[in-house]
Amino acid sequence: MDKIKDFINTNKERILNELFDFIRIPSVSAKPENKSAMYDAAQYLKNAILSAGAERAEILETAGWPLVYGEKIIDASKPTVLVYGHYDVQPEEPLELWNSPPFEPEIRDGKIYARGADDDKGQLFMHVKAFEFMVQQNILPCNVKFIFEGEEEIGSESLERFCKQHKELLKADVILVSDTSMISLDVPTITTGLRGLAYFEITLKGQSRDLHSGLFGGAVINPVNELSRLIAGLIDAEGKVTIPGFYNSVQTVSAEERKLLNSVPFDEKKFYAGINLKNGGGEKGFTVIERLGIRPSLDVNGIWGGHISQGAKTVLPAEAHAKISMRLVPDQHPEEIAKLFKDYLQKQIPEDFTIEIEYLHGGTPYVLPFYSLELEAAVNACQKTFGKKPVPVRSGGSIPVISVFEQVLGIKAVLMGFGLESDAIHAPNENYPLDNFFKGLETIPWFYHFYKK
Ligand code: BES
Ligand code: MN
Ligand code: MN
Repeated sequence: MDKIKDFINTNKERILNELFDFIRIPSVSAKPENKSAMYDAAQYLKNAILSAGAERAEILETAGWPLVYGEKIIDASKPTVLVYGHYDVQPEEPLELWNSPPFEPEIRDGKIYARGADDDKGQLFMHVKAFEFMVQQNILPCNVKFIFEGEEEIGSESLERFCKQHKELLKADVILVSDTSMISLDVPTITTGLRGLAYFEITLKGQSRDLHSGLFGGAVINPVNELSRLIAGLIDAEGKVTIPGFYNSVQTVSAEERKLLNSVPFDEKKFYAGINLKNGGGEKGFTVIERLGIRPSLDVNGIWGGHISQGAKTVLPAEAHAKISMRLVPDQHPEEIAKLFKDYLQKQIPEDFTIEIEYLHGGTPYVLPFYSLELEAAVNACQKTFGKKPVPVRSGGSIPVISVFEQVLGIKAVLMGFGLESDAIHAPNENYPLDNFFKGLETIPWFYHFYKK
C-alpha cells in the first residue's frame, strides 16, 4: 500500500498526459450538437478502465447521453465498491475570459487549467489511476464497479430509469464519489450532505403584442415590471423564501450538529473576500456554513424580456421570462415545492395575465451522518494520507443521482472530494491543483484498504 507514492512519482507524467487527452475532448452535455464529443469521451473512459485492469467495460445507451460501465470482480464474497463520476462538463463560455483555451489543458502555478480539470474529469480520473495502481500491485482488496455518466451537468435525467433497469448490474456495498470539494488542502473534508434542486423557467404574458410605451404606458401592466415585482416578493427582509409551506418539511438540525458543522476551520470573511465582498447576505440567524448546508435557497439565474440590444426603444414588451432555481434540504421534495411555487405565483398575477411555470429538472437532497459506518473507511484513509481526521461539511451543491442511488439501489454514497473553492468550477479558468489531484490519488487506495474490513 505504501507503494502508492512510488507509483505516483514514477508515472506522474504519463498520468497527466492521459488526463489531458481526456480533458481535450469537449464533452459539454448541454450542447445537443456535441454527440461525437460525448461518445469520444465515453470511449476514452471505456479504454482507460480496460487498460487500468477492468475485466469488462462497456458503453451503455440511455434515453440521453451514454454511460460507461466497467468492473473487476475479484471474489463475490468480498465487498463491492461502486465508483461514480461524470465525464460531461459545463459549457465553456464566456470564452474571452479564459487565459488559455478551455479544452487545451495547461499547467500554470502548479494547477491544471481547463474545463473539467476538477469537475469532474480530473476527480474521476484519480479513481481510474488508483484502480490501476491496485491492480498492478495485485492488492485490490474489493470488487470494483465503475459508473460514469454524461448527464450530471444537465440534471442526470436518464439515470433513475437506468438504475431501475439495472439494479443487479449496479449491486454494491458502497458508492465512492469524488465530485465535491475540501475546505483547503490541509483540511481533508468529507461531504456529508448535498442540497437538492428544483429548476424552473417562467414566462409571464400580458397584452397580445409589444406596445408603444407612450401610447400605452401607464394604462396597462407591463409584464417585465410585473415579473420583477413577483420575483422581488419571493424573498423577504429576513432572507426567507415567502412561498407558503416552503419550510414545512425542512428538517430542524440539532444544536449539537450545528455546533459540529460550525466547528470546522472556515472563515466567513475570507470566504466573502475571495469573491470581492465584505459581508455577503442571506437568511438571518444562520452562519454561512448553515446557509449553504442546512438551509434552502432561491435564486434567479437569468431574466429577460423586451428591448435588450443597443440603444433605447420605447416599448412595453408583451412577455417576460426568468429562470429560477431553488436549492433544497432534507426533507424538501422538488415536486412538492414545484406545486407550492406554481400555486403561489398563479394566485398573484393580474387578471389579464397568463403565467407558464415549467419545471425543468430537479433532485432530492442527500445526507449521510458523520458517524455512519460507510464513512469510517474514508475517515481512516484521510487520517493516513493527511495525518489528520477529515471534517464534515454539508455542501450547498447538488449531485442529483446520489439520492437516486440511495432510493433506487439502497446504497449510500461516500463523498470524498478533493476540489477547492478556488477551482472555479463551471466558470472561466477552471483549474485543479496538481497537489490536490495527487493527494486524492494517494488517498483513494487507502479507502479500499480500510473498507475491505
Ligand atoms: N460537482 C458538482 C457539485 C458540487 C461541487 C457539489 C462542489 C459539492 C461541491 C456538480 O457537477 C454540479 O455542478 N452539480 C450541479 C447539478 C445540476 C446541474 C443539476 C449543481 O449543483 O448545480
Ligand atoms: Mn461535478
Ligand atoms: Mn458541475
